[in-house]
Amino acid sequence: MTKPHVFVTRQLPQATLEPLAAICNLEVWEDHLPPPYSLIAEKAKTLEGLLCLLTDKIDANLIDNAPNLKVISNMAVGYDNIDVPSATQRGIPVGNTPGVLTETSADFAFALLMAVARRIPEAQQYVKDGQWQTWHPTILSGQDIYGATLGIIGLGRIGQAVARRAKGFGMKIIYHGGSNEAVANELGAQKVELDELLQQSDFVSLNLPLTEKTHHFISTRELQLMKPTAILVNTARGGVLDSKALYQALKNNTILAAGLDVFDPEPIPMDDPLLTLDNCVIVPHIASASVATRTKMAEMAVKNVIAGITGQTLPTCVNSGVYES
Ligand code: DGY
Repeated sequence: MTKPHVFVTRQLPQATLEPLAAICNLEVWEDHLPPPYSLIAEKAKTLEGLLCLLTDKIDANLIDNAPNLKVISNMAVGYDNIDVPSATQRGIPVGNTPGVLTETSADFAFALLMAVARRIPEAQQYVKDGQWQTWHPTILSGQDIYGATLGIIGLGRIGQAVARRAKGFGMKIIYHGGSNEAVANELGAQKVELDELLQQSDFVSLNLPLTEKTHHFISTRELQLMKPTAILVNTARGGVLDSKALYQALKNNTILAAGLDVFDPEPIPMDDPLLTLDNCVIVPHIASASVATRTKMAEMAVKNVIAGITGQTLPTCVNSGVYES
């Protein structure tokens, strides 16, 4: 009997692939850069399983031309790169990797918030540039975190984990979107309207998923509502923030600073003006990048593929409706 054909769009920790290699005809894309869309689409015509990353666009055209495809498994909690309604229509379950990256991502969101607030990247550059001549009363002064107000947009799993860290820092926590009130109460987080959150927060953390509704959720109007001393941190998806509006806001001192783990598009084009600003810290989508967490994500993604190609319910499925029809 021929083994099912599975394509993995990037090299994963070897041990995580072994259970898959044992039961299928496994093909792994070895390059550092993602496979081109056309290549995935061509392969999809004969695939039974696809393990992809958030860098891979899995659209209706690809899905419609993959008659044997039994599972699409994304190694990420977010799945805005996949046309899930099309997959559902074709009865294809889509898997993601929720939970295992929550704490790691929240650690990073908080690290980024602190790095921007206390100007750590600037300070490091200052030392490396040989500018450290003395202790000085005013240089490189940042913003206090302890006692400040944190506004979380999207109090889902990661937003809640960010709130738990903020609690330890004695922050006042307000939020908009996500969560139920019991969870929010436990966290001491107060639900407010978006405009109120923007007006009151010293720090705004974006933790909402990218959907049609949340595209450019934060743009010129929202940035103008923020305090001139406010810091914006985006570890969600680049598309939720209008980066052109952010550049204007940072350049014109509408807000003080920003920390971005994500960008639209990724990677950020090297001529993007945000790269010229000292008050914008940009890192390459690494919030979940701890060795342990990335391994767990790969393991989960593999488990979803194995379930899909062996006709079982995916352990973590974003369109469980496929099992009802
Ligand atoms: C996700 O999982 O969606 C993150 O953005 C990458 O870990």
